[in-house]
Formats: sequence, structure tokens, C-alpha cells
Amino acid sequence: MTTGSDHALNIPAQCPVSHDFNPFGGSYQEDPAGSLRKARHEQPVFYSPLLDYYVVTRYADIKAIFRDTTSFSAALTLEPITPLREPAIQKLVEHQFDLGPFLVNEDEPIHMRRRRALAEPLNPANVRGWEQYIRDLVTRYIDKFVKKGHADLVADFMWEFPATVALKFMGVPDTEIEQARQFAVGQIMFGFGRPTEEEQVAGCDGMGQYFNHAKKLVAKLKENPDVEGWVPFAIRASQQDPDTIDDRFLVSMMMSGTSAAHETTSNAGANALLTLMRNRNMWDEICEDPSLIPNAVEECLRYSASVVAWRRLCVKSTSVAGVEIPEGAKVLVVTASGSFDDEIFDEPERFDIHRGNAKQHFAFGFGTHTCLGAPLARLEMKIVLEEMSRRLPHMRLVPDQEFEYLPNTSFRGPQNLLVEWNPADNPLPSDRP
Ligand code: HEM
Repeated sequence: MTTGSDHALNIPAQCPVSHDFNPFGGSYQEDPAGSLRKARHEQPVFYSPLLDYYVVTRYADIKAIFRDTTSFSAALTLEPITPLREPAIQKLVEHQFDLGPFLVNEDEPIHMRRRRALAEPLNPANVRGWEQYIRDLVTRYIDKFVKKGHADLVADFMWEFPATVALKFMGVPDTEIEQARQFAVGQIMFGFGRPTEEEQVAGCDGMGQYFNHAKKLVAKLKENPDVEGWVPFAIRASQQDPDTIDDRFLVSMMMSGTSAAHETTSNAGANALLTLMRNRNMWDEICEDPSLIPNAVEECLRYSASVVAWRRLCVKSTSVAGVEIPEGAKVLVVTASGSFDDEIFDEPERFDIHRGNAKQHFAFGFGTHTCLGAPLARLEMKIVLEEMSRRLPHMRLVPDQEFEYLPNTSFRGPQNLLVEWNPADNPLPSDRP
């Protein structure tokens, strides 16, 4: 670390500067909190010239930034962290791409007006109505591999099933699910990574196609909005109050809502299964006593989050942990680092499904923008752990596998997760070959 005064950078003097911080490589993907351990203790707020972002690592400071919606705007949350190059912009122009904001990147007062108008389908009571659908779906996925004795829990299970839930929840007709899922994947690198120019052009092509597809899906749903699903619910809300929910918003909701509900949950489930496999005694405990699962879900989200960092734009110069963040500066709050702050969590590096305050983690953000889909995500994770621990308590990690993560600032989950077991030992007789 050096300080701002040592550099020809346009940042305040005395601001710590880290040339080592690299969220696109090194240990950040595998262990974001561990890679920032030293910073958390010694320089909790620093400027990263590589990113051109101020990086915030401690729990209390992250919470204060999430709370201070006057000084910190959410507007840049979904903007590509690597600025778009000209050919990529051209691709978007070709597709007449005009994506509007969607809750997560909106500020007050419109954000809260829209959030209130759309919250009902995601409240815990309504989400409970999805339990049987999700359990049946999980059961069908496990049926496909339970007699084989091995599986890639990402490719064979966790990547697809939350996508199917997400699209069904959005209200996309079953016939559209396959096509919409194809469009929805692969946007992480585009928004949060360091894509090459070629990858950026391909990303923009995918985004453009998906945008036009989302427009068609919304138009189709508008013909008959009296069906189940979050977008049909929003269409009905827009008929009541077109000033709050307009057509442009409905398209961005279809597009951004689907990705909000998909990769986040896929990665959270894969991270949870990997963490529990690596902490066998905890896995054995939940196999013995499934009532421990809800708190185990919270500890998995704290210990191995699928969203590890979020962004804010400083719109009013503010001091954070003694560092002056100037107006116009971009801020990366590393929520996974906050969830390992020893001021809040006792022995944070210990994975403990009995931890009393596990739920205080930042995996779903904090404050006015706290994840609206958290009840659904928690339910999906709970059902995955219940069904896997019931049917495959004896599964173990395939030894010596390496876990790969997409190099990006915010979304984290292993690309593959290989497990094995002896199917003759499956506890349910109907699951044996
Ligand atoms: C484990 C899975 C999930 C994780 C880790 C996650 C994480 C997050 C995070 C970090 C935010 C930003 C919070 C902030 O700015 O303070 C967020 C916002 C949001 N999430 Fe999730 N999410 C998950 C699942 C879902 C699901 C299943 C849905 C939808 C059905 C969803 C819908 C949303 C929406 C609509 C917002 C914007 C809320 C607002 O700005 O008011 N998420 N999520």
C-alpha cells in the first residue's frame, strides 16, 4: 500500500492506494475475504488504480454506505465494470438496445415506489406457495443421477434448476423456458469481468438478442396478464399505476430479474454443497438432524457467498473510515469481506452451522435494496440441502479436483463440482441400482 500523495492519481492525499488488489485474478475468486484480511485490519478503505474504484472491506463501513442513500447512489450497479469498446457499443446500437433500470440500480424516490408495488409475490408467505414445485423439480434432477454413483453438481443440477425456477417465477410460459435460459446465461463476465474486445462484442450480441426477446415475452404476456408469475403481476400493477411501472421497466424487469434470480442462486447452492463437503462433520450433522438446515443455509451464505461485492457511486463527498471519498468516485463494497469481520463474527474463519448471528451476513446486501428474492433463494437452498442430505448423505468430493471461478468482481461459484458415492449404499431402496 502507498498513499494518494505518492501518485499522479486524482485521489485525495493520504488515501491508501493498493496496486496489488486484483479482483480478476489471484486468490480473490477462491477466497475474497481472505485476500482482503490484511486490508480489513490495516487499511480498510483504499483506492484501486486497476479498477478506478475505492474498495471498502469492513462490516460497519459497508453497512454505513448501504444505509446512506443520499451520498451513495445505486445507479452504476449494473454498468459494465470494464468500459465498453466501440465495436461492442456498435453491436448494441445494431440491436437497438435500450435497457432501462430495474430496482437494483435505481435511487429514491422511484426505487421504493416500484419496490413496494412489486414486493408482494416475493413475501415469505407467498414464496412458501412455491415449495412443492421446487421440491418436485429438485427431486427430478436428483433422480437423474442418484443411481449413477457420480455427478457434477453444477452441470447436472445447480446451474439449471434455479434457472427453471427463475423463469417459472417470472411467468415465462413453459414453451419459452429453454430459449430464455440460453439468452440469460453468460452475462457475468460482460458486466463484472475484464472481457476482451471479442468477448465484449459477443456479450453485447447476447444482451441485444435477449433484450429483444424479453420485449416479445412481455408483449405476449400483456395479451393475457391474468396468469401466474411476477411479470404478469407487474403488468397488472402497471395497468393500475402506469406512472410507477411503465413498459420500459417491464422489459428490464424481465431481463434483469431473470439474471438476478438465476446465477446468484445457482452459485449459492454450489458454494453451500462444496463448503459442507469440505466440512464433513457439519454435513453429517445436517444429515442426522435436518432442522439444522435453515441456519446452515445462513452460515453457508456468510462463509461462501455467491455475491461477494457490490457497487455504489459516491454523489456527495463522504468520509469512510477516515478516508475522504470524493463526489463522482466509484465504490466497491466487498460484502464477503464484511461477512468475515471479527468485530461482528466471532472467529469468522471457522465454518459453524450453529453460529448464532450467521444471518447478519451481507450475502443479500443491506438496507433499502436488500435482495427482494432472498425468501425464494433461501427456500431453494433449504430444499436442495434437505433432499441431497436425505438421499445422498454418503456422497463425497472427488479427490484432487481443482475448482475454477469466473474472474470477476462480484459473482462467485465453482464452475464444476464433482462428487461420488456408492449407489448400492443409497439409503432409499428405490434409489439403488
Ligand atoms: C442466493 C441467491 C441470491 C443472492 C446472493 C442475491 C443477492 C442480491 C444482492 C447482493 C442484491 C443487492 C442488494 C443491495 O444493493 O443492497 C440483490 C438485489 C435484488 N435481488 Fe437478489 N440475490 C439472490 C437471489 C434472488 C432471487 C431468487 C431473486 C428474484 C426472484 C432476486 C431478486 C433481487 C431483486 C429484485 C433485487 C433488487 C432489490 C432492490 O434493489 O430493491 N434475488 N440480490
